[in-house]
Amino acid sequence: MKCFVTGAAGFVGSHLCRRLLAEGAEVVGIDSFTDYYPRPVKDARVATLAGKPGFTLVEGDVLTADLDALAAGSDFIFHQAAQAGVRASWGQTFDIYTNNNVLATQRMLECARRVKPKKFVYASSSSVYGEGRERPTKENDPKVPLSPYGVTKLAGEHLCHLYEHNFGVPTISLRYFTVYGPLGRPDMSIWKFTLAMLRGEELAVYGDGEQSRGFTYVADVVEANVLAARSKLSDTAFNVGGASTVTVNQLIRQIERILGKKARVRHEPPAQGDARHTEADMTRTRKLLGLTARTPLSKGLPPSIQSIRDFYGL
Ligand SMILES: NC(=O)c1ccc[n+]([C@@H]2O[C@H](COP(=O)([O-])OP(=O)(O)OC[C@H]3O[C@@H](n4cnc5c(N)ncnc54)[C@H](O)[C@@H]3O)[C@@H](O)[C@H]2O)c1
Repeated sequence: MKCFVTGAAGFVGSHLCRRLLAEGAEVVGIDSFTDYYPRPVKDARVATLAGKPGFTLVEGDVLTADLDALAAGSDFIFHQAAQAGVRASWGQTFDIYTNNNVLATQRMLECARRVKPKKFVYASSSSVYGEGRERPTKENDPKVPLSPYGVTKLAGEHLCHLYEHNFGVPTISLRYFTVYGPLGRPDMSIWKFTLAMLRGEELAVYGDGEQSRGFTYVADVVEANVLAARSKLSDTAFNVGGASTVTVNQLIRQIERILGKKARVRHEPPAQGDARHTEADMTRTRKLLGLTARTPLSKGLPPSIQSIRDFYGL
C-alpha cells in the first residue's frame, strides 16, 4: 500500500504518517514548512518519523512540486496541508489562505485525476459551519463560515465534489473539530495556556472564556482518515468530533490540575471569526464510517501537555 500525505510535518499529518507506517504502508510525505509557527515544532515531529522504513519526506510546496512524480502509484492520498488558523485569515494574509487551501487543493485534485488513487481524503474543518444552526451540528446543517479560513476550507470541499463528479476522483471530506494531542499546534489554546502556566506568565483568553469546543484527540482523527480511505463511500463529508465538549474556562481548570499550577488569566476582546460553540453530531460518522474510538479530554490531555513540557524542557 502506498500513501501520499500532504502537510506531513504538520500536527495531524505527522500523526497520520506514523499510523500508516505502523500498518506497513509506504508513505511519501510533502511539507513546505510554512512559517505560521516555529519550525522546530515541525522538526520535532519529523524526528519521530525519520528513519522509519518506508518513509520519505520531501520538503516542497504543493503549489510548485512535481506532484505526479511524488504521488505516482499511490493507493491513497491524504490532503492535510493547509494554512490553518481562523484569526490570521483576515486582512493582508488572506492570499496565504487562498494559495495553500484553495489553489493547493485544486492542484492536488488535478494530480489525483491522473494518479487515480482509491481514495482522496481531504482534511476539512468544523469552521465550514460557522455558528451552526443546531448543536451538536449535523453534516447537512447550513454551511455559513464565519471566517475567511472557513470559506477556503469549504471551497476545498466543493472542489472535491467537482473532481469526483466530473473526473471520477473518489473523495471524502473530514470536518475536524478542534484537534489536540502530542506535539500539537503552538497557536492553539492547549499549547498556549500550558506554556504560559509553565513559564508563570499571563495567558490571554478571548472574551469571557465561556465559549466551548468539542475537543478531538488526534488518534481519533487519524482513525477517521484510515476509515475514510477504506470506506466504499465517496463524494461525501463526515464530522470528526471528540468525546469532550468543554468551555475555555473548564479547559484552563483541567490544565491547572494536571500541572499543579494556577493560571493568571487576562481577558481580551472576542476574536472575530471564532464560533461561540462547536460540537459535532457524530451519529452519521459512527454509523457509516464506523468511527468508535473516542478519547475523552481526561485521557488525551496528559500526554499532550507532557509533549509540550518535553519540547521546552520545562
Ligand atoms: N488542528 C485542528 O484543530 C484542525 C481543525 C480543523 C481542520 N484542520 C485541518 O487539518 C489539516 C491539518 O491541520 P494541522 O492542525 O495539522 O495544521 P499544521 O499547520 O500543523 O499542518 C499543516 C501543514 O501543511 C503545511 N503546508 C501548508 N501549505 C502547504 C503547501 N502549499 N505545500 C506543502 N505543505 C504545506 C504546513 O507547513 C504545515 O506543516 C489542515 O488542513 C487544517 O485546515 C485542523
